[in-house]
Amino acid sequence: CGIVGVTGRADTTNLLVNGLKKLEYRGYDSAGIYVSNANGEDHLVKAQGKIKNLEEKITDDVMGTTGIGHTRWATHGVPSIENAHPHFSEDHRFYLVHNGVIQNFKELKKDYLSEVTFQSDTDTEVVVQLIDRFAKAGMDTEQAFKKAISLLKDSSYAFVLMDRQLPETLFVAKNKSPLLIGVGEDFNVVCSDALAMINVTNQFVELHDGEVVKITPQSISISNLAGERIDRAPFTVDIDQADADKGTYPYYMLKEVDEQPAVIRRIEAKYLDHAGNIHFDQALLDQINQASKLYIVGAGTSYHAGLVGKKLFEKFTKTPTEVVLASEFAYDDPIIEDQAFFIFLSQSGETADSRQVLVRVNDEWQKPSLTITNVANSTLAREADFSATLEAGPEIAVASTKAYTAQIAVEALLAVAMGREKTNATAVNFDITGQLSKVANAIQTVVDEKGKIEELALATLRKTRNAFYIGRGLDYNVALESSLKLKEISYIQAEGFASGELKHGTIALIEDGTPVIGIITQSKTADHTRSNLQEVLSRGANVITMVSEDLANSTDDILLPVVDEMLMPLVSVIAAQLLAYYASLQRGYNVDQPRNLAKSVTVE
Ligand code: G6P
Repeated sequence: CGIVGVTGRADTTNLLVNGLKKLEYRGYDSAGIYVSNANGEDHLVKAQGKIKNLEEKITDDVMGTTGIGHTRWATHGVPSIENAHPHFSEDHRFYLVHNGVIQNFKELKKDYLSEVTFQSDTDTEVVVQLIDRFAKAGMDTEQAFKKAISLLKDSSYAFVLMDRQLPETLFVAKNKSPLLIGVGEDFNVVCSDALAMINVTNQFVELHDGEVVKITPQSISISNLAGERIDRAPFTVDIDQADADKGTYPYYMLKEVDEQPAVIRRIEAKYLDHAGNIHFDQALLDQINQASKLYIVGAGTSYHAGLVGKKLFEKFTKTPTEVVLASEFAYDDPIIEDQAFFIFLSQSGETADSRQVLVRVNDEWQKPSLTITNVANSTLAREADFSATLEAGPEIAVASTKAYTAQIAVEALLAVAMGREKTNATAVNFDITGQLSKVANAIQTVVDEKGKIEELALATLRKTRNAFYIGRGLDYNVALESSLKLKEISYIQAEGFASGELKHGTIALIEDGTPVIGIITQSKTADHTRSNLQEVLSRGANVITMVSEDLANSTDDILLPVVDEMLMPLVSVIAAQLLAYYASLQRGYNVDQPRNLAKSVTVE
């Protein structure tokens, strides 16, 4: 979910709505705002679905100088107006927006609120009713807020609270869910991502778990639950607003696919110098090279980038590497070696599943860690020992594209830098500068093939119910990511399979006309995958091939310019991203905002 808050601005309503639009990638099941002014006049507006539905309901009189807003990705309670935030207390004194999950809300409802009539099915409403109850018992707002928070067990939250009796004050608290305070002159703002408010300030104060903040137009006072006052200086957020605009593109996804050659070049500029030296923090290289085992932690597309990373780290550093799904590993009982090192991959740096693993790494296992992320000051970046940025620029489309290629490029650079220090011959002899330049050009060639890929999508994916991607080794890793892209945005039931594994079960699913897309970029296994494609062809499959030029023949469908085989995932995935894009478009869907998904999932 996305949260915004503003105090001290005449254009509060506009700032809230525009801020929510920037946060729409966090969820679009429902949205709402609450605004008030110094005279106590106030308005609550909520709508189901996208922010534009909310905008349509906001009439000219919905004005205020202080307000809060929320865009929801449903957890407890279906997407509906009643379940949309802000939630309010029975007597309409308190209004609350929340991101996160209150684990013990049912117990709290039973223990404290049996007399209250609830408006919604949400865990959030329990909190606002609790605050009201404590206020009625004589506590001031801050005390009531803190008292309610102290009762929340194992919960994650970012809250912004308003009180009708203090119409120009925002009360804020966070635990596990991201929240930043933006500092202005005679106004202040709150948001779950700096992107939402970057047009009014670039000065932000970070909040730590367990802190509570009282904000007025002139003041920001942070304290912990024990009541101790905390002073923290703001930091500057460096985002170019233009990067977050769609320009003339119909969808962000297409813009982001097209940006990938430039992203690779930016990564080269950031991590490589003219002499071909790779620059990472020396302390990071010293520490990570002591590791006897690397763990790569990620979710979704980042997990898939980790699968490719494993092969890069093992090839260039000879360090055994395990890739784990964050949501599983967070509650597993792994045997952690003494010299383990953890690498977190996360576009947003906010994924709750990954963060849960980092909490264990820091508190329980006490092992060193690195976060590779697109958002420099994100939670995972701050809480790991080291961080490295992806330089991909804001990624807005829910389906991740340029972050995946950036993650693989940064992993390759890190692996080669580590290998060079270890004088591993493969790493020493690898021309990473030349190869990344070739990659940027190769990606450009594939994105220039849009027309052809669009036709292929039309011929094979427009009507199908299911589809398969197959490959071996790195091609299998890309097949997993490619099928995820397709299912996320086209709703085709798509799966990625190791091509040799088909005959052990999956081949039973092949029928006349089932699309099977073969990825062939690895010389060692090219012939094997070709045989596996023959097997499905004999059973009626509609075969499409994506093949490196040096392994291709005249019947292949998509030819991929050749780069070093270790880096071919950076090229082959582009064709798969475009196939998914056109399949979604041709099937008539909103490419950037697929149903049920959110870009940054800050609940477990
Ligand atoms: C969400 C997004 C995915 C993304 C995953 C991990 O589920 O929809 O596209 O891969 O989160 O996100 P992260 O920001 O940690 O890379």
